[in-house]
Amino acid sequence: MGRQVVAIDGLAGSGKTSIARELAKKLGWLYCSTGLLYRGVGALALHKGIDLSDEDSLSKMISENTLTLTLDDQERSVLLINGEPPTFNLFTPEASEAASRVAAHPQVRLALVPAQRDAFPGRDMVVEGRDMGTVIFPQASAKFFIDVPEELRIQRRMLQWKRPADGSATTEGQIKAEIKERDERDSSRLVAPTKPADDALIVNNAEKSLTEVVDELYHLVALRRSI
Ligand code: DC
Repeated sequence: MGRQVVAIDGLAGSGKTSIARELAKKLGWLYCSTGLLYRGVGALALHKGIDLSDEDSLSKMISENTLTLTLDDQERSVLLINGEPPTFNLFTPEASEAASRVAAHPQVRLALVPAQRDAFPGRDMVVEGRDMGTVIFPQASAKFFIDVPEELRIQRRMLQWKRPADGSATTEGQIKAEIKERDERDSSRLVAPTKPADDALIVNNAEKSLTEVVDELYHLVALRRSI
């Protein structure tokens, strides 16, 4: 039997990152965030002044730079660009926006497939993204799609975005509009839109605590492995 992969997909603010991290911890597996690759491409393009709508230039940039997912000394997934940690922040609102824009290009998505499938070879992992169950790991041992009402996702992300470190001067209304636009783009793009795989279990994360959700998923994964 090859390595075990649990695929977790969902929109930003759904809580999938916390769920994926905690589930990996409980299973004793690695946690892998594929959003790091899209953030890396988006932020690198901003850094190099490449037009985010220019698919050919973005593809060329990816072919000229090596983006890899690797583990730090505490076995956390990190991105390396040409073997080095990026010198720019991948988690600013600008980098998030850029990641979402580059992620809509089919050539960009195609170019990032090997880096996702080749991450942490031979190791069991819980992998998080938008198209894990549909495109990247269609044979995953278990697939979960984390779903919460839009209002709640927006509220959660507003809390994150309002940290003073963001230095954001934008108004609440603008932030809301940007979040909505990003979600709309991530879910309606033509290639690999964020949607549940046919065989994914939809997990409603609005009513339950993190521990309850993680316990539930843990038991489902354990059950599948013992069949
Ligand atoms: O998960 P995240 O917020 O770090 O992802 C950043 C962006 O990358 C998000 O707008 C959607 C995109 N993404 C994607 O299209 N496919 C993935 N597997 C992971 C992320």
